[in-house]
Amino acid sequence: MSHAIYPGTFDPITVGHLDIVTRAQAVFDRLTVAVLVNPHKQPTLALDDRLAAIREAIAGLPGSGRGIEVVSFGGLTVDLAHQLGAATIVRGLRAVTDIGSELQMAQLNRRLAPDIDTVFFTTAIEHADISSSMVREIAAFGGDVSSMVPAGVLRRLRP
Ligand code: PNS
Repeated sequence: MSHAIYPGTFDPITVGHLDIVTRAQAVFDRLTVAVLVNPHKQPTLALDDRLAAIREAIAGLPGSGRGIEVVSFGGLTVDLAHQLGAATIVRGLRAVTDIGSELQMAQLNRRLAPDIDTVFFTTAIEHADISSSMVREIAAFGGDVSSMVPAGVLRRLRP
């Protein structure tokens, strides 16, 4: 049974992330969306809100997100993968500018855990301009992010 983890900060999850979730679900038997808890960073959406918004969005996917679970973690991604018995890390690539940092992360993870591979999905072109940081900035200035995030995020971003 193939099992992959899709780690990220997901502050907040975007339609681009959800597209990666959907496509990874089609490839792996089991997919764990892993939300990083970073004690050094103050997120815009609290962990509970991020988890709830992700679970809500995933429940709305075709098949009601069968085979997908959502967890939080606070250590190394490779340690979580070992703990869960997942052999693959999934990440999305939006543009060439993502490649440098993603390649370094994949190589470092492989150095730390040679038994775990990273698989990249290319972000659908219609979502390639979307990032969590831009969503946060646009929302903070009152801009419309409704085409960029699922409804559960929109609700939680609004004051
Ligand atoms: O959504 P993001 O912020 O791009 O996700 C980055 C994330 C969470 C995948 C990365 O920071 C991570 O894996 N952090 C956990 C700590 C870790 O394993 N660091 C070493 C990676 S080389």
